[in-house]
Amino acid sequence: MLILRSLKLCDKDKVFELGKKIFREEDEIPLLQKALYLCVPELSFVAVEDKNIIGFTLVCIKMTNVYYGFLGKIPNCYELAFLGISPKCQGRGLGTRLLKETLLAIFQTSNQFTCWLLVDTDNTGAIGLYEKIGFRRWVETSPDITPVPGYIMGISYKRFIKRECKQYNTYKITPIPPMPMIMI
Ligand SMILES: CC(C)(COP(=O)(O)OP(=O)(O)OC[C@H]1O[C@@H](n2cnc3c(N)ncnc32)[C@H](O)[C@@H]1OP(=O)(O)O)[C@@H](O)C(=O)NCCC(=O)NCCS
Repeated sequence: MLILRSLKLCDKDKVFELGKKIFREEDEIPLLQKALYLCVPELSFVAVEDKNIIGFTLVCIKMTNVYYGFLGKIPNCYELAFLGISPKCQGRGLGTRLLKETLLAIFQTSNQFTCWLLVDTDNTGAIGLYEKIGFRRWVETSPDITPVPGYIMGISYKRFIKRECKQYNTYKITPIPPMPMIMI
């Protein structure tokens, strides 16, 4: 059985072990360590199957790395610091489900949020996923900013709501209708 749930403190070692199978040792693993320290557990998720963690998102408010100053000036801003799915489990829709769950949790915390991330320009699979969810490419990084060419991508609450209403879980973000008036 597959469960998506928010991150617990006791998951962190297992997430790190899984991360080592997914991310580059030189530049991404040090950031993963930092993200595990900084992340907001209620906004970060794990996918668990047969008691094994097979995927995760890590969301931070304090940035893991300040790539551009403008990111620090955006109000209600969240960094999707990591999204990783076990290599054996990729292509099953898990990345999509985890990302949607994560954005919904951010929205429920801050209904005027912006969420950004960094992705390698050659990671076409991940870019396809982010664009499908509604992220847009904001900036292409130069070698003085990141060791590998990347895009800073972002999504704002406005776009999230627009797409959520069209495609997904509309019920979750529909405001509760007012109580009917009782005429005496
Ligand atoms: C990127 C990653 C998170 C996607 O998770 P996943 O569970 O494999 O993805 P899904 O099965 O939910 O597929 C989501 C979308 O990704 C895109 N996608 C996935 N693989 C793709 C590929 N090889 N080429 C193009 N698009 C691809 C598609 O848009 C797909 O949507 P669709 O099935 O509706 O067409 C996962 O492959 C992963 O962990 N990769 C290694 C780590 C990584 O790159 N993380 C992101 C760093 S920013």
